[in-house]
Amino acid sequence: MDSANLNTKRIVTVFGGTGFLGRRIVKRLLEGGFTVRAASRHSARVSPIFSSTGRMPEAVEADILDASSIGSAIAGSEAIVNAVSLYVEQGVQTFERVHHVKAAADLAAAARDGKVDQFIHISGIGSDPKSDSNYIGARGRGEVAVESAFPGAFIVRPAVMTGPDDAFLTTIVRLIRLLPIYPVFGDGGTRLQSVYVEDVAKAVSGLIDGRNPKGSSIFEFGGPRIYTYKELLWEIARQLHTNVKLMPVPFAVWKALAGVAELLPAAPITRNQVDLMRHDNVAAIGVPGLKELDIEPRDIDEVIRLIEQRA
Ligand SMILES: NC(=O)c1ccc[n+]([C@@H]2O[C@H](COP(=O)([O-])OP(=O)(O)OC[C@H]3O[C@@H](n4cnc5c(N)ncnc54)[C@H](OP(=O)(O)O)[C@@H]3O)[C@@H](O)[C@H]2O)c1
Repeated sequence: MDSANLNTKRIVTVFGGTGFLGRRIVKRLLEGGFTVRAASRHSARVSPIFSSTGRMPEAVEADILDASSIGSAIAGSEAIVNAVSLYVEQGVQTFERVHHVKAAADLAAAARDGKVDQFIHISGIGSDPKSDSNYIGARGRGEVAVESAFPGAFIVRPAVMTGPDDAFLTTIVRLIRLLPIYPVFGDGGTRLQSVYVEDVAKAVSGLIDGRNPKGSSIFEFGGPRIYTYKELLWEIARQLHTNVKLMPVPFAVWKALAGVAELLPAAPITRNQVDLMRHDNVAAIGVPGLKELDIEPRDIDEVIRLIEQRA
């Protein structure tokens, strides 16, 4: 019997299973033969997302801010993935609640009480409990809270993720074609190691399937190359056979613009994105990454080609 058949009795619940990363984790787990639950606040979105895949996940409606709604999603699960995200604070949906105590830690504690074997918390490179940024600080405190609620939890920190439906590279590709002058964050010197979202999904599903040769619990996933923001824009322009003129824009101006943009229904830029762009987004040396999981990260050229094919 192959491993896919052996996995059918293993239930994995992916919170945020309809999201950019979560849906890909769900898909890979289904391909690996697991029984998968995709949990989110809008279960009706599950079916259209997975209708073209061979197998369907179970759609579960759950809000991680409401502890009473997560029990049925967790029941009987062998592994839980928390791929829930919040990019703009709104009412009770604050970074502190979603990324820290009332959500991430509650979910981890419920998983521990439910005798779940593995808990995978998706965080991000640069998470820092002591950061002045609400977003980066809440992410860091979220990691600490998860580790204490579920000892042995996996903490997965991806760099900014790319893919044909991403919010990062797709926007840059579109804007480079559109704008005569491209405004950059600060002097454009922030170093980035963007990673292909499918590589992260492969790594996470592999961890659940026991593919973790060194037995590590904290991972930082970056792509094969590090670019400064400026170099990245030049590289994308080169691939698109176009020129790009860059205009440095101070971070304070970006922050003010993002504050206004957040009032729009689908904010094109958020203050937390500006905060993230102030710091290098590069995997730390010495922290296990994709290579340690025998995954060769996909180059950005290939992702740009995928974005172009989709346009
Ligand atoms: N995207 C990146 O470049 C990037 C980089 C580094 C780290 N990360 C991290 O990766 C993780 C996933 O990010 P993503 O970009 O895939 O996010 P996303 O596309 O925005 O997806 C978020 C998912 O969470 C669900 N969700 C939101 N609030 C929820 C709640 N209260 N209860 C239950 N489900 C909820 C959403 O569905 P509903 O709205 O239907 O509930 C959706 O399925 C996050 O931890 C993020 O910080 C992302």
